[in-house]
Amino acid sequence: MNAQPYVAPTIRRVSQTTANPQRLGRVPVMDMIDGVPVARLIAEHGSPLFVFSESNLREKIRAARLAFEAVYPDVTFAWSYKTNYLNAICRVFHQEGSIAEVVSGFEYEKARHNGIPGHDIIFNGPWKSVESLRRAVAEGAMIQVDNRDEIVALARLAEEFQVPIEVGIRVHVDTGTHAVWSKFGFNADDGEALRMMAWTRENTRLKIRGIHCHVGTFMLDSGAYATAAKAVVELALAAEAAGGGLVEYLNLGGGFASHARLHGQYLPPEQATPSFDDYAGAICSTIKQLWPAASKLPKLYLETGRALVDEAGYLVSSVVAVKQRRMHDATAALAAYGKGGVATATVSSRRNAVVLDAGINILYTTAWYQPSIYPAGTSPAMTAAGMQPTTVYGCLCMNIDVIREEAALPVLKAGDAVVMHPVGAYNITQSMQFIAYRPAVVMIDPERRVHLIRRREVLEDVQGPEHMPDYLASTRQSTAAGGRLDP
Ligand SMILES: Cc1ncc(COP(=O)(O)O)c(C=O)c1O
Repeated sequence: MNAQPYVAPTIRRVSQTTANPQRLGRVPVMDMIDGVPVARLIAEHGSPLFVFSESNLREKIRAARLAFEAVYPDVTFAWSYKTNYLNAICRVFHQEGSIAEVVSGFEYEKARHNGIPGHDIIFNGPWKSVESLRRAVAEGAMIQVDNRDEIVALARLAEEFQVPIEVGIRVHVDTGTHAVWSKFGFNADDGEALRMMAWTRENTRLKIRGIHCHVGTFMLDSGAYATAAKAVVELALAAEAAGGGLVEYLNLGGGFASHARLHGQYLPPEQATPSFDDYAGAICSTIKQLWPAASKLPKLYLETGRALVDEAGYLVSSVVAVKQRRMHDATAALAAYGKGGVATATVSSRRNAVVLDAGINILYTTAWYQPSIYPAGTSPAMTAAGMQPTTVYGCLCMNIDVIREEAALPVLKAGDAVVMHPVGAYNITQSMQFIAYRPAVVMIDPERRVHLIRRREVLEDVQGPEHMPDYLASTRQSTAAGGRLDP
């Protein structure tokens, strides 16, 4: 009997798109954004290019407000600056009635620059410099204290100004849905927050007017907010029973999920992402149910960020090169063996790959989410070949610069444009100048006019803050060291 050579068993990830490329049907194309041809956007503003839809921003904040205002008498949205602090974006939210939520002195300055008065700024964050706290106190901002050291710093300012300072206290709670964000604020579950409220009342001139709880981000389970709302109401009632007054406001933070798709997320966003009505129901019905009937309902603040801005943002990019990516593939190894070849795990197959002119330095969120990628046009060749599993590389000289390990795309060639979506949340604020300049950003208004809201970077933007020590002013090699002289 012929002994069969041993082939080690392997587990091979089944590609979603290899089984039957045609099953995905027509090549989905995005050749327009808000009625403006992508080709025109590239011709006028270059590639890559971030594009924001003003209509989408306004639709989202109006829908969120409507959902909450329908079920709660006193609710205010605060635009979370860190989610996207391009001034034009912030202004749209402010025009729609949102106040500002900031987490640093820098963001505070930005909100003031955008015309927001101190009393309409919610000042969060685990570190606020004494200078920024002094300004916030002087301007009547809603400071949400994060830790005991901050309470002590504010208590000193209250002595200095000889005034009581009104603050909110930030807490974290275990909602049972994800790891607790215990970095921020005091624990509301084990009595720490209650003790801190009593200590503050007894030892400082601070007046705790509100309770703040931001449970986390991209919360796909709206039930987490019911748990958090219950915890903050119970804390408010316990603090009142302990001798403090009833707080005037509750702040349930942000964290509502956008229609992005997490790596490994099984359900599509249309099914997985709760609606604003779901979140509003979870939060407002809990507060209304538990708040004492004889007392006025507390004011409700919300700081939702990504759910309002993610879908409004697109990244237009161009294919600069196509490649065949070598995949180590156990199936190919077995197939070779079946044809009388040598069974070896090093036999490889190939997968289409493209290199784009944008990299992960401007798509930071691809670490957690998979943007959809659409060709910005179609051709008979594309349609004929159907969809292929394709690796999408970024343009950086870094092996980790992979935008999508595997996206279903038609066969693309250098020069073809693609559109990535949704990318409006956190990418602008977290994008870094690294290897390549950061691209321009435009916003399309409801009349389809295209406005430049941030120009593409140039060398001076990057090296402007640099300083050259005198002794390095010349590029000539020192004669002491010998060697070639450059002019
Ligand atoms: C205090 C606070 N509020 C609001 C937000 C906005 O969160 P999201 O973009 O998840 O809605 C954050 C983000 O982490 C936050 O830390």
